[in-house]
Amino acid sequence: MDSLTPATAGKTEALAARYGHDAIPLAGPWNETIAGMLGHRSVRAYRPDPLPEGTLETLVAAASSAATSSNLQTWSVVAVQDPEARAALAEVASGQKHVRQCPLFLVWLADLSRNARLAEAEGVALEGLPYLESFLVAAVDAALAAQNAVVAAESLGLSTVYIGALRNDVQRVAGLLGLPPGAVGVFGLCVGYAADPGEVKPRLPQATVLHRERYATEGEAAQRAGYDTALGEFSARNGMGPEGWTGRVIGRLAKLRAMAGRDRLVAALRGIGFPLR
Ligand SMILES: Cc1cc2nc3c(=O)[nH]c(=O)nc-3n(C[C@H](O)[C@H](O)[C@H](O)COP(=O)(O)O)c2cc1C
Repeated sequence: MDSLTPATAGKTEALAARYGHDAIPLAGPWNETIAGMLGHRSVRAYRPDPLPEGTLETLVAAASSAATSSNLQTWSVVAVQDPEARAALAEVASGQKHVRQCPLFLVWLADLSRNARLAEAEGVALEGLPYLESFLVAAVDAALAAQNAVVAAESLGLSTVYIGALRNDVQRVAGLLGLPPGAVGVFGLCVGYAADPGEVKPRLPQATVLHRERYATEGEAAQRAGYDTALGEFSARNGMGPEGWTGRVIGRLAKLRAMAGRDRLVAALRGIGFPLR
């Protein structure tokens, strides 16, 4: 039995919110950091209140503290405040209004351009740079950095939502932000004070995603059916229609139309300095 401290008091409730009351996993150690992570939710409506001075720099310090492959630090971030640029970025992102509304909009870059400049200045060739592996390293670096910033922001009472829809047109984003070849916006991030913090969105049960020793799919169909019900109820409560997870996956992936241009991403990346060999 846990000894209940203020940090552990909400543990069962937090796990129930994340997995549903019927799928609460065993969980051992617990603290305020973990509680904060389990409380995460994406927010799509923001108050206009500005962020305290220095917040951007604090979030970037958290981002810079993430692990980075071989310490290459192949990411950068562009903080966009100009309303016209915001409006154009929102347009790229299929008109998502929170891109214009949030007080801070960050575009996270997979950035190999810095290493290309280093190579030029040093008069060396970086044979590994044009490979898919290097792009992947940079994209992973950007994601880890951004997620550290998200955890930091949420710990400060701020809310966020990632904007992957910036990849609808990576070339336009590169033009709007003046990116050099070898830098690409892999996603945006709205940061601000929530107008409506919303509800924690349940996830697939741990039995579906946690494999012990060997990958196993027994039970997956039943677990998916249970999750469909849980997500359908969440969606209905939050004005998103009663569709479950299965329907969402199919809606997102069944037709190329739903990729909103991202089906041409390889060609677009090659056009902005990522040969992807
Ligand atoms: C890389 C990435 C891109 C995303 N892009 C968008 C987006 O363009 N628009 C949006 O409203 N939410 C976007 N999201 C948020 C997801 O929809 C959200 O994380 C997911 O539905 C789970 O909900 P939760 O974050 O509230 O738990 C994105 C999330 C990630 C990780």
